[in-house]
Amino acid sequence: MALRKKRTAPRPADTPWAVELNGVRRSYGKRSAEVHALRGIDLALPHGSFTAVMGPSGSGKSTFLQCAAGLDRPTAGTVRLAGTDITALDENRLTELRRARLGFVFQSFNLLPSLTVEQNVLLPLRLGGRRPDRARARDVLGRVGLGDKGHRRPTELSGGQQQRVAVARALVTRPDVIFADEPTGALDTTTATEILSLLRTAVDRLGATVVMVTHDPSAAAWADRVLFLADGAITDELSGASAQRIGTRLTDLISHHRRLAGVAA
Ligand SMILES: Nc1ncnc2c1ncn2[C@@H]1O[C@H](COP(=O)(O)OP(=O)(O)OP(=O)(O)O)[C@@H](O)[C@H]1O
Ligand SMILES: [Mg+2]
Repeated sequence: MALRKKRTAPRPADTPWAVELNGVRRSYGKRSAEVHALRGIDLALPHGSFTAVMGPSGSGKSTFLQCAAGLDRPTAGTVRLAGTDITALDENRLTELRRARLGFVFQSFNLLPSLTVEQNVLLPLRLGGRRPDRARARDVLGRVGLGDKGHRRPTELSGGQQQRVAVARALVTRPDVIFADEPTGALDTTTATEILSLLRTAVDRLGATVVMVTHDPSAAAWADRVLFLADGAITDELSGASAQRIGTRLTDLISHHRRLAGVAA
């Protein structure tokens, strides 16, 4: 594990946008077999916002999140995170930026079983060559209600507790953006609510910016804004909507999509 101190890309001052996508396209395969996963996404999300991304299966949600988070490279277009054009960075710089300025929460928790809870939370700081600040780890663990679990191993915790550790790990670097891919997909409703409430609090109290892919309208209702993807494009959006309204919009989108697919078949 490299603990060497590294310089990260400079942070341009005073951009109002945490995430900006301009003309982002992502295609897979060659000519006749080409799949257009993203067909030109233009988007700007302000700092301190909570955005949910929904859409039918295969609409490009995961591809969108991967491109926005610098885990995949668009075929065309630019992605800016807090003003930095990440599409212009080489692999090393991109890795540094992800470690220093982004947080990730995945459906499957992705904790390292051989490390304690506290060591898992400190990992982004260690990987980024920063001082593993134990007081800060204890502080974020306290925020997610696990102040007394720092010395446990992830396997000794429930699924909901493990996901809370993942949220603490995502918060520890005070990132510009937290990307979450189905963070409540593996949790029961009560535990899912706890995790969503933590993400909401991170936005409201800590000024975090969250972008979350979800299939679940009641999860999306915790966001300020819901973006709907269909066939690789943003086709609709709702702000401050109830779970019921989001659910109806998603059902309409999916049935419309099925009708189109039926016509094309
Ligand atoms: N590595 C890849 N190679 C080829 N095609 C891919 C690849 N990854 C995704 N695709 C295609 O791109 C499109 C968008 O996929 P993506 O995984 O982003 O959809 P999604 O909205 O996340 O779907 P789901 O809800 O099922 O997770 C799909 O047609 C998919 O088959
Ligand atoms: Mg997906």
